[in-house]
Amino acid sequence: MEAVITLLPGDGIGPDVTACATQVLEVVATQYDHNFRFDTQLIGGAAIDAAGDPLPTNTIASCKSADAVFLGAVGGPRWSDPNAKIRPEQGLLRLRAILGVFANIRPVRTYSELAGASPLRPEFLAGVDMIVVRELTGGIYFGEKTRDETSASDLCTYTVSEIERIVRVAAKLASGRRGRLCSVDKANVLETSRLWRNVTDRVMPDEFPDIAVETLLVDAAAMHLLSRPADFDVIVTENMFGDILTDEASMLAGSLGMLPSASLGDSSVGLYEPIHGSAPDIAGKGIANPCAAIASVALLLRHSLGLAAEATAVERAIDTAIAAGLRTADIAAADESPVTTNEMAAEIIRGL
Ligand code: IPM
Ligand code: MG
Repeated sequence: MEAVITLLPGDGIGPDVTACATQVLEVVATQYDHNFRFDTQLIGGAAIDAAGDPLPTNTIASCKSADAVFLGAVGGPRWSDPNAKIRPEQGLLRLRAILGVFANIRPVRTYSELAGASPLRPEFLAGVDMIVVRELTGGIYFGEKTRDETSASDLCTYTVSEIERIVRVAAKLASGRRGRLCSVDKANVLETSRLWRNVTDRVMPDEFPDIAVETLLVDAAAMHLLSRPADFDVIVTENMFGDILTDEASMLAGSLGMLPSASLGDSSVGLYEPIHGSAPDIAGKGIANPCAAIASVALLLRHSLGLAAEATAVERAIDTAIAAGLRTADIAAADESPVTTNEMAAEIIRGL
């Protein structure tokens, strides 16, 4: 097949892991006889430096006309002055809104071989296999923001239709898995969460009577994720809770460097990114873990290009590299000598 993929390396370790993701896509294209064309564009701090705008118009045009978008990471200390008006993260948030990718799918898998990399005891990790579905284009991230000398505010808004559509995405995913959905909110305090709970309580029995639904308050969910992680199948939650809970959940997998994500809309182009940030402390050192980025490539192949066999092959190749004992620094035990970003990617490519 022919496909155009926009690459947005961004900042920090973003370019390091995007290079690995691109190599994997090139190898898949060669092996399966596809023709992927890449269009690299600026986003985040790199775009602020080059164009004064974290999401230049060329980038928007490229993403809109592509078959899929891959993003590395945005942000860094150079652009994090709390008084700055222009910030790298604005580029990513605007892109998510422009593409209408309201459903952020974050699978959390554990590898028994990496149990030692997790701060949790191995008996808690056995059987962990969940997907967190994070609402991505609403809530406090996108509400009106104000600030003056003495106060600041961030408005959190959700509409019924925004909640309905994300709950449906999560419920459909649960139908194809273990049939369990956990909706996370803060309905004891927040009005938006009470609406979220009302909508979930109506949509689920009406449209998905076979799915077992559990509701948790976000503070309790943060605890249950550690005390009984294997119980979760699909979790659905609002934008900010999903952001926080998935960083927490990454510790089940051993590292933020292991978790991929897919951001999907109704008919729009999909956006694929590792859930980790730009990790400025290790940027350019060649030691970042490329697994999350390469696993995001698998999601891109599956969800945007419909290439299921290729996607599975990429995931298997990651499994094989982990099974073979390759460890970047973030997942290496004290007695294991870590490999570089490129060595890990090369081993995954060899597996392909
Ligand atoms: C994520 C990141 C972003 C978010 C930042 C970089 C704006 O933390 O994708 O999880 O908060 O959504
Ligand atoms: Mg985050």
